[in-house]
Amino acid sequence: MDIKIRQEKPADYEAVFKLIKKAFKKVEMSDHKEQFLVQLLRNSTSFVPELSLIAEYENEIIGHILLTKITIKNDQTEFNSLALAPVTVLPKYQKKGIGGMLIEQAHKKAIELGFKSVILLGHADYYPRFGYKKASRFGVQLPFDVPDEYCMAIELTTGGLHEVNGIVEYPKEFNG
Ligand SMILES: CC(C)(COP(=O)(O)OP(=O)(O)OC[C@H]1O[C@@H](n2cnc3c(N)ncnc32)[C@H](O)[C@@H]1OP(=O)(O)O)[C@@H](O)C(=O)NCCC(=O)NCCS
Repeated sequence: MDIKIRQEKPADYEAVFKLIKKAFKKVEMSDHKEQFLVQLLRNSTSFVPELSLIAEYENEIIGHILLTKITIKNDQTEFNSLALAPVTVLPKYQKKGIGGMLIEQAHKKAIELGFKSVILLGHADYYPRFGYKKASRFGVQLPFDVPDEYCMAIELTTGGLHEVNGIVEYPKEFNG
């Protein structure tokens, strides 16, 4: 399969909206509003256009990933990081490695832009294969009342979370 991963453009927004709606339709742990979250995040100060990527196959958009800016705060200081949310692949094209391609490409771009880590709330069986570990191991807490294993982080650079600790502050758009 000749899949192209590239930066999302405004002309793609409608197709991406439909893709996200469709991909989350049958997902149990979903509020089925992820397509609206992406719309809100694009208009927020957390948005980094280079980190909204799409996967294209035969001129159809079949996958999308978004990383947005977040801060990790403690009493003394704060650190910049990124949140991965959401990543989606059209059901018909799932389990072909496209989600992985989007994640790897988003990491690569984030490193080029100088980011050192990514934080996410997600499936404990999926993300570790890309290098994600429990965020608690780095002293990073997510502001959600969910089991520890769903809160994950990755160091994009060696020691990217060294001496970084605190609670993640998400853009207000995540509050719905
Ligand atoms: C999660 C998602 C992006 C993965 O995309 P994909 O292209 O199918 O992923 P890949 O092909 O890279 O990886 C497939 C592997 O991930 C596993 N996987 C996919 N979704 C998973 C989940 N929810 N929990 C655990 N494992 C999952 C598959 O079982 C498969 O495992 P295998 O390689 O051992 O067979 C896609 O399933 C999707 O869009 N799901 C609906 C939206 C969603 O839940 N997004 C994630 C939350 S933001």
